Amino acid sequence: MSRELRGRELLETSAANKGTAFTLAERASLGLEGLLPPAVEAIDQQHQRALQQLGQKPTDLERYIYLNQLLDSNETLFYHVVMSDPAYYLPILYDPTVGYACLTFNHIYRRPRGLYISIRDRGKIRGILSNWPEKDVRVICATSGGRILGLGDLGANGMGIPIGKLQLYTACAGVPPDGLLPVLIDFGTDNRSLLNDPLYLGLRQTRAPREQVDQLLDEFVQAVQDEFKDCCIHFEDWRGVDAFHYLASYRDRVCCFNDDIQGTGSITVAGLYTAMGIAEKKLKDQRVLFLGAGSAGVGIANMVASAMKLEGLTDDQAHDQIWLYDINGLLESTRKDLIPEQEPYAHQHAPSRNLVEAIDSIKPNILIGVSTVGRAFTQAVIEAMAKISERPLIFALSNPTEKAECTPEEAYTWSDGRAIYAAGVQFPPFQYKGRTLFPAQMNNFYIYPAIGLAVFATHARRVTDEMFIEAAKATADQVTDEQRERGMLFPPQTNVLETEVCTAIRVATLIFDRNLAGVSRPKDVEAWLRAIVYKPQYSA
Ligand code: NAI
Repeated sequence: MSRELRGRELLETSAANKGTAFTLAERASLGLEGLLPPAVEAIDQQHQRALQQLGQKPTDLERYIYLNQLLDSNETLFYHVVMSDPAYYLPILYDPTVGYACLTFNHIYRRPRGLYISIRDRGKIRGILSNWPEKDVRVICATSGGRILGLGDLGANGMGIPIGKLQLYTACAGVPPDGLLPVLIDFGTDNRSLLNDPLYLGLRQTRAPREQVDQLLDEFVQAVQDEFKDCCIHFEDWRGVDAFHYLASYRDRVCCFNDDIQGTGSITVAGLYTAMGIAEKKLKDQRVLFLGAGSAGVGIANMVASAMKLEGLTDDQAHDQIWLYDINGLLESTRKDLIPEQEPYAHQHAPSRNLVEAIDSIKPNILIGVSTVGRAFTQAVIEAMAKISERPLIFALSNPTEKAECTPEEAYTWSDGRAIYAAGVQFPPFQYKGRTLFPAQMNNFYIYPAIGLAVFATHARRVTDEMFIEAAKATADQVTDEQRERGMLFPPQTNVLETEVCTAIRVATLIFDRNLAGVSRPKDVEAWLRAIVYKPQYSA
């Protein structure tokens, strides 16, 4: 792209812009003389200036805005900064700050990014896709804004999520950024305060009926196949029922996945594999109870069941080990309000609307919160779990921070330091009776970028659950004995790029083994994949 661009247009094209790093020869040949200050800088000097400017921002939301403006002006420098210290930047670009960014998206909005398609665009979607300047789009992250983190329906404000998710494809797994496209599909919103906000940027109508949504989505999925060969659709933050419905409709027909269902399932299984190593137990012998039976709850339950089956259980035996509890109480066989995906987990049991009673009766060793309800794991809940096992696993996964079902401090204190704890966001280490306890961040950002890199590189035709299980195993296999001894469930975030590239190598190998690749198998999958990984350096 940079060869055709000149002058101001070149400076205003983020993907090609080098700013003050354009050499004198480039400035002469590209019509840039006089358009830049005289100094010619290396990217490291530009990086220093960005850090200074960032250091003056008082809050993470301000830092989020600054970084996204940096991305608007110089993509390479943005990734150079972000990839230099992922553990520091992930919470700014992603959970939890992205949640606050979405809440205020229409107010902090500066300039458009990605594509907006609305229910009024029926019959026009292919044309809209063709307006996108990059013709080789390889991954689309699409949301309806229907359930943004634990924050509910945020309508068009949900665009912050696909933007942030795709930035992590590059930052965490080195997927080249040019072929990544965030898409917001606007079906309206049922969020009254947004509809009444004069600065709201989405359609000012309540959500369209299901039938219209189905038709528009069919057209969208088909248009993507027609316009962008080999493009994978990553569905993100759709309402629970919609999430299952669309995954079931498209997963066997096109290359797609749902991160809330499959990515979350995979990272949880990765955490469970490591935790089983710490506790010297087998997953198939554990009982799991979920608070929350939506896309994340059922998605994780399905992935845990698949992992138990790999250890020798039958379908029924695996389902019998897993229980779910939602806003209407325990899922059991007399419940009439369940969707088909929940039914395998509705066992024979008396109805219950008391979580502590359900724990006392079911006796789970693992409690997983994906309910969107902050502090739902009360002292009585944690104490009930601590009565059942020596090392109860307490995963409080709802996002953002204040939606976590309990804090590490609560889980550790109420279990007398015995809990193995994880949350969707990163909490700091906690001191308890002279020991340092390390809460894990169980977030699907360890998984979906790696899956994305493998799919991108292999031009995979489908995304399967087996790939997510392989990603879970690969992630868990990278936790060292020493890290496990410290109670860590995942490899450190400081090394996230190397972790995810290693995971992607395993997933890509599986894609070749299953004949799902659209390119021929290279002799050395690892060397071939590493050569594809994006590096935030200016091209000569
Ligand atoms: P969802 O809206 O599909 O499901 C929410 C579930 O919680 C429903 O089953 C609902 O009945 C239940 N629930 C609501 N209030 C409840 C209450 N008072 N008591 C018991 N159950 C209650 O949402 P989804 O997609 O399943 O996500 C849930 C949460 O998980 C969100 O906060 C999301 O941010 C988080 N999540 C975290 C991920 C991570 O990587 N850590 C990944 C995906 C989701």
